[in-house]
Amino acid sequence: MLNYITSGESHGPQLTAIVSGFPAGVAVLAADINRELARRQQGYGRGERMTIEQDKVEILSGVRFGKTIGSPVTLVIKNRDWENWREAMSPDPGEPADTKAVTRPRPGHADLSGCLKYAHKDARNILERSSARETTSRVAVGALCKRLLAEFGFVIFSHILRIGDVVAQELPKSFDELQKKAADSDVRCADAAAAEKMRGRIREAKERGDTIGGVVEIIAVGAPIGLGSCMSADAKLDAAIAQAVMSIQAVKGVEIGMGFAAAAVCGSNVHDAISYSPERGFYRTTNNAGGIEGGMSNGEPIIVRAAFKPIPTMMTPKASVDLITKEPFEASKERSDVCVVPAAGVVAEAAIAFVLARAFLEKFGGDSLDEIKRNHHSYIHYLKNY
Ligand SMILES: Cc1cc2nc3c(=O)[nH]c(=O)nc-3n(C[C@H](O)[C@H](O)[C@H](O)COP(=O)(O)O)c2cc1C
Repeated sequence: MLNYITSGESHGPQLTAIVSGFPAGVAVLAADINRELARRQQGYGRGERMTIEQDKVEILSGVRFGKTIGSPVTLVIKNRDWENWREAMSPDPGEPADTKAVTRPRPGHADLSGCLKYAHKDARNILERSSARETTSRVAVGALCKRLLAEFGFVIFSHILRIGDVVAQELPKSFDELQKKAADSDVRCADAAAAEKMRGRIREAKERGDTIGGVVEIIAVGAPIGLGSCMSADAKLDAAIAQAVMSIQAVKGVEIGMGFAAAAVCGSNVHDAISYSPERGFYRTTNNAGGIEGGMSNGEPIIVRAAFKPIPTMMTPKASVDLITKEPFEASKERSDVCVVPAAGVVAEAAIAFVLARAFLEKFGGDSLDEIKRNHHSYIHYLKNY
């Protein structure tokens, strides 16, 4: 089964991801992964850290002469900032004079619960890992998965639907245009007028020392009917997608298709009528289900939305209590972003790419790309002749 593990602290020497169960024969270049890493670092509202870190991957195993060989793929991204943190992040015993200790937990972050759970008095031991710097590794894994899925015609992209109270209104119907317009916008919103207002909201939040959240929509085109399963809870594709997206830092809601809106209307306004033509086979005239029914892809584009809360580190912090003195304090400020929603969309694409790649490999198996192509081809042929 396709799997991965990541490791690395935000100010440690590097982030590492090891992907196992990835088939042989898939063309992968560092440039493919670097492109996605760069996308994660862009976007209006990011902080100073993004100018320090220009993420580049090193592929340390699993790829030879530009193609995967079937062994675990090791991806490493160095933290350039580590040079400034060598002492404070040292694995050696003893504490240097400047440990950069954090004793003022930030409301909304993992600091307090993490310190109590892991018996730390320095929240740095928690925030170094709970920080969304970790999502860099996930984007690298997602880039690898996108390479596999691209061999089968998948396209996965995202765009911003909302920042604060500003909602995109005029969106192109064509996915190509939607993707292109979002890519051309620094808030990754395809509605130019809304994008302008979104920039304004981000600026206003920054001026107030505040932060702001929003909603991302992720669209995956190319999934054939039948990824995932209706047969057991843990095999359901929608459940796997919801878990993967909800695990992204700051995500507080996940919807598939109509999502929460489906609860407000009657069935006649929700369910997608089934049609058939010899060219297309079974298809739908609407896609309110967001491409998944009964835990399985139904052949329509998979449409997922994620709600991101405003990030917790604020220049005008909420009150907190010092871990050592128990005295009330203004929570400590780590260097921070104002709005991460444009970047977070890239992370959500990666999370979904992994889930789809795993479901795809479960359905079509195979140790090599050629074998998977044979299995996939025969299934598509079977669907056409059903
Ligand atoms: C791409 C991205 C960047 C983030 N950057 C920051 C940041 O600079 N400062 C911050 O306080 N939170 C940031 N967050 C959110 C926190 O990591 C997150 O709120 C925290 O780990 C607590 O987890 P929870 O919000 O899921 O409960 C970021 C999230 C994402 C997805």
